[in-house]
Amino acid sequence: MQSIPIPNVSLPVPFSPEQASTFAPHVDALYVYLVTLTAFFTLGISAAIVFFAIKYRRRQAAELPRPIAGSMVLELTWTIIPLMIAMTIFVWGASIFFKAYRAPQQAMEVYVVGKQWMWKFQHQTGQREINELHIPAGARIKLTMTTEDVIHSFYVPAFRIKQDVVPGRYQQTWFEATKPGKYYLFCAEYCGTNHSGMGGYVYVMDPAAYQQWLAGGSGTESAASQGMKLFQQRGCASCHQVEAGGQQGRGPTLYGLFGKQQQIEGDGAVTVDEGYIRESILNPQAKIAAGFQNLMPTFQGQLNEEQILQLVAYLRSLAPAGQQQQGGAGAQTPSATTTGGVPPQQQRANPLAPTGERQGSPAPQVPPGGNTGNANRRP
Ligand code: CUA
Repeated sequence: MQSIPIPNVSLPVPFSPEQASTFAPHVDALYVYLVTLTAFFTLGISAAIVFFAIKYRRRQAAELPRPIAGSMVLELTWTIIPLMIAMTIFVWGASIFFKAYRAPQQAMEVYVVGKQWMWKFQHQTGQREINELHIPAGARIKLTMTTEDVIHSFYVPAFRIKQDVVPGRYQQTWFEATKPGKYYLFCAEYCGTNHSGMGGYVYVMDPAAYQQWLAGGSGTESAASQGMKLFQQRGCASCHQVEAGGQQGRGPTLYGLFGKQQQIEGDGAVTVDEGYIRESILNPQAKIAAGFQNLMPTFQGQLNEEQILQLVAYLRSLAPAGQQQQGGAGAQTPSATTTGGVPPQQQRANPLAPTGERQGSPAPQVPPGGNTGNANRRP
């Protein structure tokens, strides 16, 4: 079904991993282009060296070449042609990069925490996994990732995605798996003694099988609902209102705050996103909301990364109706596995279409349903 003309000769070692995501054909096409280009010039230049060495060899001891003063035409030619070739690599590579590193807003979200030496996953519906990730085929999966200790790198070769996770911040990446199956997951950044053991599998399931898998989890509670409990337990509620129209407490009202611009003390504004929420929990005085005092204690060392992600999920769920970013607290219906209530089956119809992309992002030009065809391969 895949469209890339990789010669499928049965080599003892495969030329590239299986193509199991919508990115894979794009990445492979670029890779084949680079290999072809490299082979062409390597062979061409080698042949020219041999040819010229023979043709212009010194035949007599006293032989001297005619002096050459230089050639503008020649110099421009060997400057402009390589420049154009380099630009094709740049433009093509950048277009794939932007596609891969700008997560769509309509996607099923999974939180990922790296830790020496394991990958921990939490689904919005509450299921947690270690070194295994179950996801449906044909749905866009957005990973919000961080680490509890050192830098790790989340790498699934069959999906052609690799993203470092860095202590103290959130990284995002996304993919859409195309084929049910079991795919290797690696840590691709040396992170200590057992780095080589820090891996597992991504299980891509038929959407129906995935729903069954979700239902099989016993006693799971959504991430947002766990976040709500933490919010109560840790006393956040004594300063922060979470009701619509609630009056401001000692801290800002959190209802509907996610995704908004927040004026901060001093100067400027920040977008309330995962990173800002995390910073405000761990380092509250860093960016104080305008009009509020520096009263909030830090929760550094009192919450682990997974708990912080649960709080983030809870705050995201406090959006006004219709703008919910998440399934919301207590949302347990199957459709709540995707943000905005778009079930995986519907996303499949047009997985790369613009769905409220982040500001300024160009709309990917993909014909509906054409994500496995040649048509969307950008030159
Ligand atoms: Cu984690 Cu290498």
